[in-house]
Amino acid sequence: MAVTLSELKETFARLFGTEGTVHSYFAPGRVNLIGEHTDYNGGHVFPCALTLGTYGLIRKRDDRQLRFYSANFPKAGVIETSLDDLVPAKSAGWTNYPKGVLWAFGQRGYQIPSGADVLIYGDIPAGSGLSSSASLEVLTGLMLRDTFGLDISMTELALIGQFSENNFNGMNCGIMDQFASAMGKKDCAIFLDTSSLNYEYAPVNLPDARIVITNSKVKHSLVGSAYNDRRNECETALKELQTVCKISSLGELDEETFEANRSVISDPVCQKRAKHAVYENQRTIQAVRALKENRIDEFGRLMNASHISLRDDYEVSCEEIDILVDLAWQIPGVIGSRITGGGFGGCTVSIVQTDAVDTFVRTLDRQYTEKTGIKAEFYVVDIGAGAHALD
Ligand code: GLA
Repeated sequence: MAVTLSELKETFARLFGTEGTVHSYFAPGRVNLIGEHTDYNGGHVFPCALTLGTYGLIRKRDDRQLRFYSANFPKAGVIETSLDDLVPAKSAGWTNYPKGVLWAFGQRGYQIPSGADVLIYGDIPAGSGLSSSASLEVLTGLMLRDTFGLDISMTELALIGQFSENNFNGMNCGIMDQFASAMGKKDCAIFLDTSSLNYEYAPVNLPDARIVITNSKVKHSLVGSAYNDRRNECETALKELQTVCKISSLGELDEETFEANRSVISDPVCQKRAKHAVYENQRTIQAVRALKENRIDEFGRLMNASHISLRDDYEVSCEEIDILVDLAWQIPGVIGSRITGGGFGGCTVSIVQTDAVDTFVRTLDRQYTEKTGIKAEFYVVDIGAGAHALD
């Protein structure tokens, strides 16, 4: 955290006055180890919460006004709106996320009786694909729940966040990011079955290895629309498969059943998308088993296979990310490396032997810049807790 909590409290007092009680909260970003683009296909995912995330300070008001301030965008100043104006607007910028959550509370039957003053600060690098928006949504939900004494589970807060992202902000995402932010656990990844929301915490005890995130620093603009296209392609494939298989999602298929029936999918592109969804789900199940049995090399092999599938069948990688992954695969001590998150830029996640991390960072940093002219950023990850109150 580049800014301290007491600095944020001072800023809050300066902007919004000192009366009343202010409470502070945190919701993390996430990195997904494996199980990509499976969450809206009824498959499994395996994300973990980061120690990077979004901080929020909130104080209840007596009227219906909402005042928002982000310490990341000081020039934007205090942005005012009200509980009676919960509609998305381009001019509302980042406040569309908290506004969307306030709106989603109402849509899902929870009453927010009065307005609030809110200060936000996030330390997730912008546009990195580490779920800064999901963390802001979960943070907002948690702050509202506690401030207004509502009885809502953390899982429901994740669902509210997803609902707002889908219906207020127009991104048809699955549940993974909000779930990881709400339900994360220190030193564990979450093995989540997105068809039932059953989950299990899997300790990530890597005695001789670290998780390293590499930020490519590119974000291609088609991210929202291409994501929604992929989702539609999977739905088309599912409908055709349902004419021959009794399934309600692609996550219910194993590889053999998919191969035996894939020809029913008429569009070859939709066929490739479905293949990824089916195989990636199976890879995720296998990877979690491998991790539990300390077969870390197998975990790495499955991460690499995940990348190839996301690159060739799902086509959500891009040149810069493929360069990062190809280079990583050649560096000694790299156990596995792949694109992580929605795609079209963002980050890669690698598992690297502890004693090779310094060389990994130095080598990849230099070689990536040589090939692309871009300076990457590296984060050696600690797995943090899910969203929680700070005081
Ligand atoms: C984005 C979405 C998630 C998930 C990933 C891909 O992060 O928000 O729901 O679909 O992409 O795995």
